[in-house]
Amino acid sequence: MAEPVIRVFSDLEALSRAAAQHFEDVAQNSLARRNWFSVGLSGGATPRRTYEILGSGDVPGRIYWGGIHFFQVDERCVPPGHAESNFRMLRETLLAGGKIPDASVHRMAAERPDRREACKDYARELAQILKTEEGEWPRLDFVFLGMGPDGHTASLFPGTEAVSERTLWVRENYIEVKKSCRLTLTLPVLNAAAEVLFLVSGAEKAERLRDVLSGPHQPDKYPAQGVRPERGNVSWYLDEAGARLLPAHFRHKQNA
Ligand code: 6PG
Repeated sequence: MAEPVIRVFSDLEALSRAAAQHFEDVAQNSLARRNWFSVGLSGGATPRRTYEILGSGDVPGRIYWGGIHFFQVDERCVPPGHAESNFRMLRETLLAGGKIPDASVHRMAAERPDRREACKDYARELAQILKTEEGEWPRLDFVFLGMGPDGHTASLFPGTEAVSERTLWVRENYIEVKKSCRLTLTLPVLNAAAEVLFLVSGAEKAERLRDVLSGPHQPDKYPAQGVRPERGNVSWYLDEAGARLLPAHFRHKQNA
């Protein structure tokens, strides 16, 4: 795996515009070569502005949205209209522009009572759309990830069962600190990706970002450290507030 690229931006808006541009550049390249592009979308608050920019078409350049398939990285076990639903956030942002065909959007049905079946069905959908070979991991072309102040990513929270999952592609995970359940892609799937982009913003994450990016490798303690794609690139787009405790040599400062 290549060394992660770390870019620091003045604020969340600059970070989000750069993230949207990076996504479009990688997507354009893939669509031009193979008329295909698959994406994993995390939830939470940080990526919201990036998804809004992509959904509004504010980024210069033409994208053939019909050639892109969108998957969810994780979802809360609530109905898609619930305030906590990641899919609801996608409907309000990326999907709001109406440019993306419904058939290209693969929702994680985490509200289903039988979560194990919901995970199996989602894994089947991944395999079918990505044409995954028997015995292979599904390879997403691009994955948006976030990181919580505790070092979690996707719904892989420190000390939870799903962090050590090495067989299932998608699994439910009970999050004690949140007193709630989620469905999440597992680390082997995230590590099969071709391109991972972490979006992390906010002073409350500065200490953890320093630990994750410049501290010892402890992926059980900080699951975000477990994202090291064997055949892929990882970039971290940070704002100044989040990056303030990083050692100087870690910062590829942007003039943004
Ligand atoms: C989710 C996300 C989760 C998120 C982190 C950071 O479902 O909430 O997938 O992993 O990326 O919790 O969340 P914020 O961006 O809101 O800080």
